[in-house]
Amino acid sequence: MNGDDSHWLDVGSIADVPVRGARVVKLPIGCVAVFRTATDEVFAIADRCPHKGGPLSQGIVHGKAVTCPLHNWVISLETGEAQGADKGQVQTIPVKLEDGVVWLCVDGAGNLANGAPTGRAARGCSLGKSLDRDHPIP
Ligand code: FES
Repeated sequence: MNGDDSHWLDVGSIADVPVRGARVVKLPIGCVAVFRTATDEVFAIADRCPHKGGPLSQGIVHGKAVTCPLHNWVISLETGEAQGADKGQVQTIPVKLEDGVVWLCVDGAGNLANGAPTGRAARGCSLGKSLDRDHPIP
């Protein structure tokens, strides 16, 4: 991982993430969408579409991509990049799955380990095992 201060944060069971869906993990700097594909791969990206900030966690997962529910941009879950003619990128977060538990890589303060901002206000978010599909979108 990036530096000595990074560590893995247990964010809950993969069973809590719907197949071809997502759950939102609230971190001090913003909210992260943890996605589960049809083949039980997990990916984590900032829950904010690079177009106009739509809630990607509420999009439809197909293959290793998600379609934003607002204007149908397709975002790669692997790279965070918009696909096709659309241009933009959302932050990806290192994630791993071990014994059915999903882990995100964060630093000692609970920030994302790579330090890049997600662009979302942290107010109201808290570090921990919060898996909440009903997180309000500003
Ligand atoms: S906000 Fe996601 S496509 Fe427009």
